Amino acid sequence: MSKYILPVSVFGTVFGSAVLLKNHVTGGRCPSKATVTGKTVVITGANTGIGKETARELAKRGGRIIMGCRDMEKCETAAKEIRGKTLNPHVYACHLDLASIKSIREFAERLKKEEKRVDVLINNAGVMRCPAWKTEDGFDMQFGVNHLGHFLLTNLLLEKLKESAPSRVINVSSLAHIIGNIDFEDLNWEKKKFDTKQAYCQSKLANVLFTRELAKRLQGTGVTVNAVHPGVVSTELGRHTGLHQSQFSSFMLGPFFSLLVKSPELGAQPSVFLAVSEEMEGVTGRYYDVMTEKEPAAQALDDEVARRLWEVSSRLVGLQEDGPPSSSKTEGVSEPELVQTPELA
Ligand SMILES: NC(=O)c1ccc[n+]([C@@H]2O[C@H](COP(=O)([O-])OP(=O)(O)OC[C@H]3O[C@@H](n4cnc5c(N)ncnc54)[C@H](OP(=O)(O)O)[C@@H]3O)[C@@H](O)[C@H]2O)c1
Repeated sequence: MSKYILPVSVFGTVFGSAVLLKNHVTGGRCPSKATVTGKTVVITGANTGIGKETARELAKRGGRIIMGCRDMEKCETAAKEIRGKTLNPHVYACHLDLASIKSIREFAERLKKEEKRVDVLINNAGVMRCPAWKTEDGFDMQFGVNHLGHFLLTNLLLEKLKESAPSRVINVSSLAHIIGNIDFEDLNWEKKKFDTKQAYCQSKLANVLFTRELAKRLQGTGVTVNAVHPGVVSTELGRHTGLHQSQFSSFMLGPFFSLLVKSPELGAQPSVFLAVSEEMEGVTGRYYDVMTEKEPAAQALDDEVARRLWEVSSRLVGLQEDGPPSSSKTEGVSEPELVQTPELA
């Protein structure tokens, strides 16, 4: 019996310390006390997880919050809860399905018509490791929602962001980008065997490359854009993974896992930091690991890939400047409407 005492107590000490230190080690709270009174903040995927807590924190800081979500019942419930808890009445639920170009356009049109300004856009919504689903427009679901949907939304809101400058765009990416690869020959997983993990990593690498290219194109406009990895956070993101789907593992490993990862409240702090902090004023085109600036993976620093991804994405979502949108089956494109965006060419 005594031979087990040492290993058990070592394990207990390490585990206990990890739990106690986790908030500290994983970044803690946003050090800035800045408020956002009078500012309008748009957050995608705000009905749950990191997005909901970001909305709550920014509502507490006095912002006018627009929550863009695909499920209006969940969105209204979350907005109501946030209004009640923060006593900020200016928290609004708005329909946005990032898996539909039509829905993204409707959402952007509504904002352009009804909102005087957009000071902060937080591209937070995400889907991870889902089956080989396609968006309404035929894109791979993870590439379509995580990258293309936010790419189109941001472009459609750029004039509003410029009019509201200084303004900020925050792209919630992931450390997973480091094993991502942009496969220009088959962005939508139609030629090769579908690998859901790689599809997620590709989409998160695209978030960082989009940030880099957009920052370049926005030089001198007063609109900044940065990408962030929020840390490992206990949310519904893993809903399509084995851990969540197997009753055994969610029962046995779930509680252990949630002791070691951050709460959504702490997971929201990096987005809040990028959105409000004084030290982020004028900072653009960077990648943050939680609240610390880091160099992203080498493939996220490739300007040629970033430029090419911009061009292909523009074509796919119908933002192409010259010539009709691609109808290439390989790229899984329907025939979206052609829009002129000269300032973004
Ligand atoms: N959790 C982590 O450890 C972690 C780590 C690195 C990066 N991230 C990133 O953090 C972001 C937030 O994720 P989370 O952890 O908070 O996950 P989550 O709890 O699953 O929340 C994801 C949000 O995105 C929304 N969404 C999914 N598909 C959408 C669509 N087609 N249109 C509009 N909204 C859609 C979801 O809406 P429904 O509820 O209706 O599905 C939900 O509101 C993601 O970009 C994720 O990649 C998270």
